[in-house]
Amino acid sequence: MYDLVIKNVNAYVGRRVEEGIDIGISDGKVASFSKNIKARRIIEGEGLFALPGLIDPHTHTVFAGNRSHEFALRAEGARYEDIARAGGGILATVKATRTVGKEVLYYLSKQRIYTAIEQGTTTMEIKSGYGLTQEAEFKMLEVINLLKTDMSDEIDIVPTFLAHAIDSDTDRVKYVNDIIRMLEKIKEKSLCEFVDVFMDVIAFNKDETERILTKAKELGFKLKLHADEIEDTSASILAAKMKAVSADHLLKASKQGLEELKESGTVPVLLPATAFFLKESAPDISYMRRLALDFAIGSDFNPGSSFILSQRWAGLMGIQLYNLTVQEAIDAITVNAAKAIDREDIGNLELGFKADVVIFKGNSLEEFFYNISFPVIKYILKHGRVIREYK
Ligand code: NIG
Ligand code: FE
Repeated sequence: MYDLVIKNVNAYVGRRVEEGIDIGISDGKVASFSKNIKARRIIEGEGLFALPGLIDPHTHTVFAGNRSHEFALRAEGARYEDIARAGGGILATVKATRTVGKEVLYYLSKQRIYTAIEQGTTTMEIKSGYGLTQEAEFKMLEVINLLKTDMSDEIDIVPTFLAHAIDSDTDRVKYVNDIIRMLEKIKEKSLCEFVDVFMDVIAFNKDETERILTKAKELGFKLKLHADEIEDTSASILAAKMKAVSADHLLKASKQGLEELKESGTVPVLLPATAFFLKESAPDISYMRRLALDFAIGSDFNPGSSFILSQRWAGLMGIQLYNLTVQEAIDAITVNAAKAIDREDIGNLELGFKADVVIFKGNSLEEFFYNISFPVIKYILKHGRVIREYK
């Protein structure tokens, strides 16, 4: 007796569309494709399409405050870097995040995560990085870990420490030393799985980034990097050299940078929603294809450069702004996104994978994006259980 069977459904299984199959689920996993199995619950899948639960491998979901005025300033022609240099940007959110207590931060973030779940996200990475001081970074990481525990029936949360910015009145060398000491305490308390650094012209330089990543690696953390977003700072080359799990943004990454990512197995994470909000143009997708790089897509949800917390929308932006095919966009928010957070049991509906499933009204893959205005999602399954059911 299976726990659940989805009957006669079109589904995306192992990077292929299968039509009219039965998916049997047991113990939270995809357990059978046989016809006529018995199960405690049956979902009639005719007219529906089953996708792996969506994975968002890059978010900044935990923060306080509101930067809508920066959006308005950009609409009048201001640039992201100029707003940041004038004390807006990340540092404005740092101020707002420092002033609230853990409970407020928890509540604000939880509401956002519910929104993501409703749009089909079943796994989400969340970064710290709006605290900067040890006290404030720990507050963020503790909130992320609390959400991870409290929401574990509905979503898997992957915590990341992010070295995000340097306060203008801080001594840079001292601050990097502080971060290195912070990492030791973060390790002692097991507060994160990944360490990420924003390496760019307005944040950490190459030497600072390398020092932080080297220490993080020594302590056993997995690595990510905000790489080559505003300018090509050879960050993707460093990500490859450090064997980072992912290198994210890559708007300005060089051909050499992409080649080295391929060589090291570092997953490129594209963030088209950010390019959309900052009116930037696409990275070198055709060269990524030439190299057969398996790229992922993240929402980069944050209060400044991307206010989208939907992988359905991020995938659509990949198609429209980065010229991805429908299948590339689906792979980027499922199977390749799993690789970007170093997971082997999600992002795919083959036998043995976790039964995190999004079932939407439609017969083909493309209808998921094409019908963007319509609430096509009918069921969301997490750990093999139905957690959302819509009309
Ligand atoms: O990934 N690039 C750096 N960090 C974020 C933006 C954060 C912010 O503006 O608050 C990003 O786009
Ligand atoms: Fe980011």
